[in-house]
Amino acid sequence: IRINDPNSKVNTLSVQMQNEMTEVMNEVWANEAVQSAVVISSKPGSFIAGADINMIQACSTAEDVTKLSQTGQQMFERIERSPKPIVAAINGSCLGGGLEFAIACQYRIATKSKKTVLGTPEVMLGLLPGAGGTQRLPKMLGLPSAFDMMLTGRNIRPDKAKKMGLVHQLVDPLGPGLKSPEERTMEYLEEIAVDYARGIANKSISIQQNKNMMQRIQDYVMSFEFVRNKIYKTVHDKVMKQSKGLYPAPLKIIECVKTGVEEGPIAGYLAESLNFGQLAQSPESAALIGLYHGQVACKKNRFGTPARPVKTLAILGAGLMGAGIAQVTVDKGVRTILKDTTVEGLARGEQQVFKGLNDKTKKKSITSFERDSILSNLSGQLDYKGFENADMVIEAVFEDINIKHVVLKEVEAVIPPHCIFASNTSALPIKEIAAASKRPDKVVGMHYFSPVDKMQLLEIITTDKTSKDTTASAVAVGLKQGKVIIVVGDGPGFYTTRCLAPMLAEAVRVLQEGVDPKKLDGLTTSFGFPVGAATLPDEVGIDVAAHVAEDLGKAFGSRFGGGNVEVLRTMVDMGFKGRKSGKGCYIYQPGRKGKDVNPDVGDILEKFKITPNPAVSSDSDVQYRLVSRFVNEAVLCLQEGILNSPLEGDIGAVFGLGFPPCLGGPFRFVDTFGADKLVDKMRRFEEVYGNQFTPCQLLLDHANDSSRKFHK
Ligand SMILES: *[C@@H]1O[C@H](CO)[C@@H](O)[C@H](O)[C@H]1NC(C)=O
Ligand SMILES: *[C@@H]1O[C@H](CO)[C@@H](O)[C@H](O)[C@H]1NC(C)=O
Ligand SMILES: *[C@@H]1O[C@H](CO)[C@@H](O)[C@H](O)[C@H]1NC(C)=O
Ligand SMILES: *[C@@H]1O[C@H](CO)[C@@H](O)[C@H](O)[C@H]1NC(C)=O
Ligand SMILES: *[C@@H]1O[C@H](CO)[C@@H](O)[C@H](O)[C@H]1NC(C)=O
Repeated sequence: IRINDPNSKVNTLSVQMQNEMTEVMNEVWANEAVQSAVVISSKPGSFIAGADINMIQACSTAEDVTKLSQTGQQMFERIERSPKPIVAAINGSCLGGGLEFAIACQYRIATKSKKTVLGTPEVMLGLLPGAGGTQRLPKMLGLPSAFDMMLTGRNIRPDKAKKMGLVHQLVDPLGPGLKSPEERTMEYLEEIAVDYARGIANKSISIQQNKNMMQRIQDYVMSFEFVRNKIYKTVHDKVMKQSKGLYPAPLKIIECVKTGVEEGPIAGYLAESLNFGQLAQSPESAALIGLYHGQVACKKNRFGTPARPVKTLAILGAGLMGAGIAQVTVDKGVRTILKDTTVEGLARGEQQVFKGLNDKTKKKSITSFERDSILSNLSGQLDYKGFENADMVIEAVFEDINIKHVVLKEVEAVIPPHCIFASNTSALPIKEIAAASKRPDKVVGMHYFSPVDKMQLLEIITTDKTSKDTTASAVAVGLKQGKVIIVVGDGPGFYTTRCLAPMLAEAVRVLQEGVDPKKLDGLTTSFGFPVGAATLPDEVGIDVAAHVAEDLGKAFGSRFGGGNVEVLRTMVDMGFKGRKSGKGCYIYQPGRKGKDVNPDVGDILEKFKITPNPAVSSDSDVQYRLVSRFVNEAVLCLQEGILNSPLEGDIGAVFGLGFPPCLGGPFRFVDTFGADKLVDKMRRFEEVYGNQFTPCQLLLDHANDSSRKFHK
């Protein structure tokens, strides 16, 4: 049985596919000549990539989604009970509903191809495996592995899948005796699978998984109820600690597994389908699915194909940022020049790139030979040698407009006419930098986030003068570097820094009002921010935070006030620059996990103490003061045309600034929470603090008309 959805690049479990599958399976069962069957995909690189999300989103009630789940459960149950053995032959992605299909089959064979991955990523969309996965996986893998797989949603590679007992056999993608890559055909996997299917039918091959000693011991231990109860509790506590209870899906997964194991399959399947229905209608799932769609959209180049591909990229400044950019570029097969002004600076940067790649070697994702040949494309240097061949230059030099101008002029003297000049800056407007350029159409901003190899977002900034081809090139480079990209208009702080600054100003005020840093962190993380509002400036760098506060304060005036910038400046003067200097709001000691509040900061705050107004200082008020300033600024960026769409605003906030993913970003938050409710809260804060809380016009428009939504 070859699966091939003609309307899509990958196979997904759609209603149509399920109907056709039922028809085909009926034929398999009815036809006496058939003794066994192989299910294989005709798509190179994908078995079944998952259920069709649109099918789930098209449902308007939880009951409808529950019915979808039950249809899937029933189909896979019939496959599980098939009197004729069915072999799943897996090459490429076998995820979500695709995996649930495969584990209902009697036998699974997977290729060792790099593209072959198995997994249950539903939890990342706020859902659970709703077609029998929560019931079959614990039986197949044991509770700990099944929980790990379903609660993390992680991709599992073929070797691991074999060890866990998720697949029975592995085959090399390149069969014996095949000479050229063209011969690595699908037919090869199919032939092997057909052979197994025949062997299983004539009983020369057993479908029993051979469990190893450890797995047998585990099964024995799991037969005790108190052991299982301990596991449920441990897993539940861990989920609560990590998610603060803000994500319902992992809790429901635990519930479904427990119900199935303790009360039997009828109760288990029912719990699975009911919870699946509920989750699919939850705001958390809508938020996570929205982010998923947004991420897909931000991995496309809406500016078209650039006239010339960037083959050689030069980076100025081998600091943390510059070296990080070099790493993610050279890594993707682009020749990279890393230039610094000092030998020490350059050596440190090169070492950083080497370490980044070497970590990959240690994790076995590349060989040491691959590492060395990648590194041979990196040229570390102190001069402008080779810049005459550069297609793009990214500068990551000190944040000072005069230095940036000097560098721009030096660079323009040596680069070819087509070469693009990109600036990595966090706050200086690009048009001010471009003012010194002979060809402002080739100047663009590329704002990376630290650490570059981990943070997914890239914010590209265009001015009125930036040409479309320049933008297309910058996006193409970013996509090659594996980034999720938002393209925004020019202005102080662009989009991300501009949203962050008022929230940080509010955080400083909250600290001045006497809230302890740990308490402030707790209030923000329990709202869903992965990093607390007191830890955040430590991570960003207190000096950077002070710099940004001053720059944006000049540009936007009192609206960007709140906390006193002097607090940050005093901290910097005393050497408290955040994590990088060992001290900020907290004290950081290498090798120590927890962190203590820096007592000296308490003394500074005492000096700048503000008496809190009890009318706006409850825990909840503090949370909404922080969040509403962030959200209002985001909406204002859309109103002013800095942002092109709410979708990009949400992606930028979540992937660049850690806005709570369960809320889906500032725009989805307004849609879900209600603009009117948010405006009411802001009006209360406005009475006490003034214009920092004045809602912008677009937010007012939404508050006045509840049918207006940022997302359809
Ligand atoms: C597996 O998929 C890859 C594409 O990712 C394809 O090149 C290869 O031919 C397939 N191999 C087999 C054995 O089906
Ligand atoms: C069973 O099927 C396998 C695979 O086709 C074949 O090699 C083997 O000879 C068969 N054995 C018997 C007993 O028919
Ligand atoms: C080195 O760069 C060249 C030119 O961009 C590219 O063709 C080649 O694949 C790169 N080598 C590696 C190992 O990435
Ligand atoms: C590049 O941008 C980052 C992020 O805003 C900033 O921290 C850094 O100072 C900039 N320049 C350098 C030297 O990396
Ligand atoms: C709210 O909407 C109504 C009708 O669309 C309009 O007449 C009114 O002026 C609006 N009010 C505000 C405050 O924008």
